[in-house]
Amino acid sequence: MGAAPLGRPRADLSDSAFCRDLLAGLSHTPRSIAPKYFYDAQGSALFDRICELPEYYPTRTERRILERYGREMAEVIGPQADIIEFGAGSLEKIRFLLQSFEARTLPRRYFPIDISAAHLEEAARRMHVECPWLEVRPVAADYMNEAQLKRLDAATGRRVGFFPGSTIGNFDEYEAMTFLRLAARLLEGGGLLVGVDLVKDPQILHRAYNDTQGVTAAFNLNLLRRANTELSADFDLGAFAHYAFYDPRKRRIEMHLVSQCAQTVRVAGESFDFEEGESLHTESSHKFTIEGFRKLAVSAGFRPGPVWTDDARLFSVHWLGSPERGAGAS
Ligand code: AVJ
Repeated sequence: MGAAPLGRPRADLSDSAFCRDLLAGLSHTPRSIAPKYFYDAQGSALFDRICELPEYYPTRTERRILERYGREMAEVIGPQADIIEFGAGSLEKIRFLLQSFEARTLPRRYFPIDISAAHLEEAARRMHVECPWLEVRPVAADYMNEAQLKRLDAATGRRVGFFPGSTIGNFDEYEAMTFLRLAARLLEGGGLLVGVDLVKDPQILHRAYNDTQGVTAAFNLNLLRRANTELSADFDLGAFAHYAFYDPRKRRIEMHLVSQCAQTVRVAGESFDFEEGESLHTESSHKFTIEGFRKLAVSAGFRPGPVWTDDARLFSVHWLGSPERGAGAS
C-alpha cells in the first residue's frame, strides 16, 4: 500500500490493536472494550493510586499474605526456580516474594512478561541493580498469545509462574480456563502462585470500586482520554459517568462508562451514537470462592496445593502444582 489517501488522515490509526478493538467494541451491543487498554502511562499511574486507596483492599491484603506466608511459599516453590511473572508491570510484587527466600532456596532466573516493552526494560534494569544475584530476563509479550511465549524457551529449569493481583478476575470463564490451561502446560513440572480476590460482602466490594476520592472514576474515564489522544476521538469526558456495581449472580464487579445524554462520538473517523444512559462496559472483575477457584484449576490440569488467606478472608493466594505429564500417559 502507498501513502494514506488525502481525506483519510487517520488510516494509520487503525493499525493499532486499541483502535481495532475499540471500533469493534463500539459496534457491538452491548458496547464493551477490554480492560487491558486502561494501562497507558497515565492509566498505570492511576492504577498505582488505586492500590493505595483506603477502600481498595486487594493490593495491601495480598501484600500482607505474601509477607506473612512467604516462607511457606518459598518452600513449595523450591530452590533454583525459573520464575515467570504474567503481566509484571513495574516488577513491584515480586520483591515481596523474593524477601522470603533463604540463600539455599533462591530462584535462579526471573522472566517478567509484560506488553509494555519500554516500561519493562526500564524496570528490569532497576531490578538488576537492586538484585544483582538474580538473572532478570524481561519478555515483552502478550501472555495470552501462545506464539509470543516461545521466548520463554530459555527457562529450562523448574518453572514457577507468578500471577498476583487477581488479574485473573478480569477474564471471563472461558478466558480464565484458556489462560490456566496454557499456564499448566507452560509450567509443567513446576507450578503457579496466583492471587485471587474472594467473594465477600457486596458493600465492601462496592466501596472498593467507588472510592470517595474518585480515583477509580478517573481511571475508568482515562480510557476515553486515551482514545481522544491516540485515536483522534472526541469523547466529552464530562458527558460520561463512572458506574461500578457488584452483580452477585455473576460474582463480579462491572465497570461501565454511562452516557449522560444522547450524543454522537467520533473515533478514528467513524461515528457512534449513544443514547442517554447507554454504556460502554470497560471491565469485569470476577470474585471467587476458594473451592470454586480450586475446581477451575483442576479442570485446567493443575493439582491445587496450599491456599493462604488473610484473617478476614478478603483475598487468597493459591499454589497450583502442574504435574509432569509423562510422554506415554494416556
Ligand atoms: C488489576 C484487574 C485486579 O479488578 O480490582 C481496580 C483493576 N479496576 N479498580 C481489579 C481495577 C478498578 C483490578 N485488577
